[in-house]
Amino acid sequence: MKNKFFIKTMGCQMNEYDSDLIGQELVANGWEKTDKIDNADLVIINTCTVRKKPEHKAYSLIGRVLSMKRKNPDMVIAVIGCLVQHKKSYIMDRFPDIDMIIGPREVVRFLEYLKEVYTKKKKVISTCLNTPLKSPPFVKGYFRGKVTAYVSIMQGCNNFCSYCIVPYVRGREISRPVNEILQEVEFLVSEGIKEITLLGQNVNSYKWDDLDFASLLEKISKIRGLLRLRFTTSHPKDLSERLILCFGELENLCPHIHLPFQAGSNKILSLMRRNYTREKYLELIDKLRHIRPDISITSDVMVGFPGETEDDFYDTIDLIKKVEFDNLYSFKYSDRPGTPAEKMQNKVDEKEKLARLIQLQSIQKDITLKKNKSLEGKEVEILVEGLSKKGDQFTGRTPTNKIVNFDGNINMIGKIVKVQIVQSFANSLVGSFTKNVR
Ligand code: 5AD
Ligand code: SF4
Repeated sequence: MKNKFFIKTMGCQMNEYDSDLIGQELVANGWEKTDKIDNADLVIINTCTVRKKPEHKAYSLIGRVLSMKRKNPDMVIAVIGCLVQHKKSYIMDRFPDIDMIIGPREVVRFLEYLKEVYTKKKKVISTCLNTPLKSPPFVKGYFRGKVTAYVSIMQGCNNFCSYCIVPYVRGREISRPVNEILQEVEFLVSEGIKEITLLGQNVNSYKWDDLDFASLLEKISKIRGLLRLRFTTSHPKDLSERLILCFGELENLCPHIHLPFQAGSNKILSLMRRNYTREKYLELIDKLRHIRPDISITSDVMVGFPGETEDDFYDTIDLIKKVEFDNLYSFKYSDRPGTPAEKMQNKVDEKEKLARLIQLQSIQKDITLKKNKSLEGKEVEILVEGLSKKGDQFTGRTPTNKIVNFDGNINMIGKIVKVQIVQSFANSLVGSFTKNVR
């Protein structure tokens, strides 16, 4: 019987990619994946530390899994990812029974470390930030039944926005060789993947020799059988003219960009060290919409950054109303230990942060709904991904990344079909099948 592993992934898509990298290596070495934690011989918890919330979620899951290990001492527990990088000593002291504690740049050495745990019966703790990047082992069948996949093209970040922990936990920016990226996309497409999302903390600063991100997109978009190409996350300061032009030129590049703005006040943007102004951001949005009028734009924003006055907050609201984002991920600023913002004066009261967040979210909800309602009656193309969340319908996404649920059939999975939008909500749309496309 094969040994079984269970992976819980918290945080961003980069963590999902890392979890799959480990998953593929384990499968290539005779392990079997399980969705049932109590059945597992090996439990891996891939953590996030970008804000306080995911940090506390991770501690409570680690506690739960360790109580299972007390009943089943052979269970091996690995805690990996960004939180480990940030809070290694704390985790070691609070949870001494964890078998493996490794940071996000060390996931490429997971199997090596696991062997040490089993053969030498010793704990492994490592948070090296210089470990070279590595391609996954390309395991045939690992992505069976999946339609979309991620490919990491770069790691780390050199921007040091004053609130952000990422440069400290993922290290400095490093890009993957272009040939390795192309090989990985080709492999995934040969395995039946139709849509690829390129990942990086700052994808648009990708650089390999003389090749920049726009040129990488051009190369990948030519891969036969790749129906859709996406990327995330972009930094406004690195959004080049050439990259904007790609949205008009590359047929399979989806008309959607996630472009975090974080704040609408120039004073706060400068305190955040974002290196752009609200005017510059609005100009980028205009250019994108000029090249691709149907592009959908999503973003991240924070409220209650240290020193944010009511006026600053209303600048953020004003920007939201001007841009009319398709969707917006909004957060209360939270102190991340060791960042410059943590040491700033004029912290905003928690209650005030919450009030601002609620107000902002209510304004955005109306905008999202208005945009989604405008699609009612229209025909859209969706790439069918599988069953809907509730399991009673099929689901797919529009090129603009909106979720559409509809009555379909199993043969449509992996195909592009047309549906007419019959109803819209803030988080999804309901469609009615009209015809097959390809
Ligand atoms: N507090 C609150 N939100 C944060 N983010 C990053 N750091 C913090 C922080 N200290 C948000 C940003 C980022 C998203 C991934 O998380 O909006 O774009
Ligand atoms: Fe969380 Fe950032 Fe790490 Fe992603 S890169 S898991 S968002 S801390």
